[in-house]
Amino acid sequence: MNLILLGPPGAGKGTQAKLLEEGFGLVQVSTGDMLRAEVKAGSEIGLQAKAIMERGDLVPDSIITAMLAARVSRPDAAKGFILDGFPRTVPQAEALDAMLSEKSLSLDHVIELKVDDAALVERISGRYTCGNCGEGYHDSFKQPVKPGVCDKCGHTEFVRRADDKAETVAARLSAYHRQTAPLLPYYGAQGKLKAVDGMASMTSVAAALSVIVKG
Ligand code: AP5
Ligand code: MG
Ligand code: ZN
Repeated sequence: MNLILLGPPGAGKGTQAKLLEEGFGLVQVSTGDMLRAEVKAGSEIGLQAKAIMERGDLVPDSIITAMLAARVSRPDAAKGFILDGFPRTVPQAEALDAMLSEKSLSLDHVIELKVDDAALVERISGRYTCGNCGEGYHDSFKQPVKPGVCDKCGHTEFVRRADDKAETVAARLSAYHRQTAPLLPYYGAQGKLKAVDGMASMTSVAAALSVIVKG
């Protein structure tokens, strides 16, 4: 089972990809997480991507598709993968189609998480993660059970993403509408697109995704 979770920044792609990973044994492939790891490591890709990401723009297709090709070639991806944050442009989608057909693989579903822009800003600006294990939290929607202590690992330091500032969020949303929204008709024409109401609670969204994945 190979899936794409498509949706604007803050739609819940990462949240739901993690749940699908736990529930169905699929592998989450997040180009955003991969890029943040490159930035942290100070690699060549990281150096190129850092300023672009902080502005809220998209990293060039050539960098992204090379990174993605290497990732889906790793053995664990054979279990099936959930693409989170990729593709984000029509050229990336075309490169993915070529890559999959070369490996005799295919996409089972492209699932759009539909969320209003106003809700996205609120979700992103309240988001933070555990500095140790990466567990996600939110100022209003998901606080640790014991204030200031990670539920999963007990760590007490948390981090916020450099691109989660209000002005950057606006640039990310505009990049989504301009460059990524054209993928909706692209996958619609392939008969693969399904939409889920991403405004619903995390558990309702997860339930709707489960129904699609179980077929
Ligand atoms: P990326 O890391 O992919 O970020 P994004 O698409 O902007 O999406 P987010 O990670 O912000 O949101 P999400 O949909 O994962 O939501 P989440 O589950 O966290 O990309 C970052 C940057 O990297 C890009 O701007 C670009 O520069 C670069 N990049 C990455 N991929 C690229 C590519 N393919 N091409 C070019 N450049 C690329 O949820 C958000 C918050 O809401 C959380 O706090 C969560 O707890 C909460 N929440 C989730 N679901 C719900 C719900 N149902 N109800 C209430 N709250 C909810
Ligand atoms: Mg994410
Ligand atoms: Zn933790």
